[in-house]
Amino acid sequence: MIPVIPRPQKAIEKPGVLLLPEIAGVCAEKKLEKELTFFLETVGVFAPSKNGIIHLVSMREERKEAYRLIVTEKEIVIEAGDSAGLFYAAQTLRQILFSCEKKDGAFLVPCCEIEDSPRYAYRSIELDEARHFFGMDAVKQLLDLMAQYKINVFHWHLTDDQGWRVEIKKYPLLTEIGSKRRDSTVGGWNRLAFEGKPHSGYYTQDQIREIVSYAAKRHIMIVPEIDMPAHFAAAFASYPYLACREIPCEVQWHFGGRTPLLAGLRHWNRSACIGKDSTFTFIFDVLEELFSLFPAPYFHIGGDEAPKDEWKKCPHCQKRMRQEHLDSVEELQGYFDNRVNAFAKQHGKRLIVWNEALAAKGLDSSVIGQYWTVEWDKNVEPYLQKGGDLIVCKHQACYFDMCYGQYPLWNTYCFDPTARLVPKKYDRQILGVEGLLWTEWVSTAEKLQMQLFPRMLALAEIAWTLPQNKDFSDFVARMHENEKLLDALGVNYAEDPIAMPRGYQHRKKLINRWYYKEQDWELRKNRELKVRKKKQS
Ligand code: ACM
Ligand code: ZN
Repeated sequence: MIPVIPRPQKAIEKPGVLLLPEIAGVCAEKKLEKELTFFLETVGVFAPSKNGIIHLVSMREERKEAYRLIVTEKEIVIEAGDSAGLFYAAQTLRQILFSCEKKDGAFLVPCCEIEDSPRYAYRSIELDEARHFFGMDAVKQLLDLMAQYKINVFHWHLTDDQGWRVEIKKYPLLTEIGSKRRDSTVGGWNRLAFEGKPHSGYYTQDQIREIVSYAAKRHIMIVPEIDMPAHFAAAFASYPYLACREIPCEVQWHFGGRTPLLAGLRHWNRSACIGKDSTFTFIFDVLEELFSLFPAPYFHIGGDEAPKDEWKKCPHCQKRMRQEHLDSVEELQGYFDNRVNAFAKQHGKRLIVWNEALAAKGLDSSVIGQYWTVEWDKNVEPYLQKGGDLIVCKHQACYFDMCYGQYPLWNTYCFDPTARLVPKKYDRQILGVEGLLWTEWVSTAEKLQMQLFPRMLALAEIAWTLPQNKDFSDFVARMHENEKLLDALGVNYAEDPIAMPRGYQHRKKLINRWYYKEQDWELRKNRELKVRKKKQS
């Protein structure tokens, strides 16, 4: 077993070992010298050298993100198709070295031949920082870990009903008011209990630039999300004119589900007014600032769970529908998406929307759909037929905010973004796959890590490794090898009995309890397991 995650497309073990000194020399072709520095930083144990033991060379033809790594008893040769390929070769070597035995300070590297390139170009992790704000260090650490597993997109959910987390110079109230809320619900979707303290936080534009550049160095593109026209309450709290009815509204301190209703809250779940031109002026101003901060060619505008009742009653929205000959409120959302899309296109951006928004008639097929819903969505296939592209993140496999009791590790590992979900002829329109961490019930780095690990490793393998090269028990063995690296980095991953619970049916009652009332049950259990493991070792 070559202990690398995601599993390389081809990895052959050979007889023999290379005795690699802890500070080994690396030499690179002239044109790879810039990459060499970062390679050395990543793997950490090497020094540049004229006649080193590790040789970096370019492939004869350029191949995106591809690399070849050959270990013989004399040397290591790494061929890379581009600079991402070289970076990924370094990640592979790093994992191998971490699991190697050592003798007199030297690594005993088993001889092998690895040839590797990804299945999907879009391999993504989403983090919701609207529900809880984690800050620069946590995000940088997440980016480091993503890079280690060859994940190359960071989908950053920066705004929602419960907080606006990015500075917009033209609209300062978005952060002065919108980044703060008075309290947070705790426990779960059905429990009316509160943390009892305010929550706040946002990124300045300088900090955003710093993170974007940090990610780019690790071959990660950042796709920001400003959810609209719904999940927009933090914007309404700052600028009430954005809604159909200009009524006072606070940044939400309930996390949806039943708690706002239990608390007797009305007007908490609303959509932006699509009738007023001032809504579009605001949105285009905000997007213009964000387009200049985020160089990625994609921009996520959410578009999920948009309540449409107010649009039916609002004189502005009704006027818009008459003027634009729109027969339904679904078409009104389509009008909104198309208008925002036209603006994004002028700036060289492709929009991404959640799959509900694909219901809109006449949606421009350059918009990318992101398929998340638990249920089968009848609008997805016609959209693919029109030529639309898709990112897949089905709830049952990719929602890492769920308890492991509900969605154990194999739900994620065994998921195939194409099989059965859409007819095979549309495979080429699946750009990739994403794992998501919504943070209603995640307020600390400890829990964030437990929800993500080891599920993120499984996600990396779905996204990178061809289905015929996947195998769950082999994955679990490599995952345990990788735990050494995660332990060294201080990552709080879920232990086996949490990540891979047995007997789902017997646990159903318990699962409901966690889900609705005791979201931290697994976290506490995992702490106990870690203490026990430490005592035993
Ligand atoms: C979503 O989870 N509402 C995209
Ligand atoms: Zn309206």
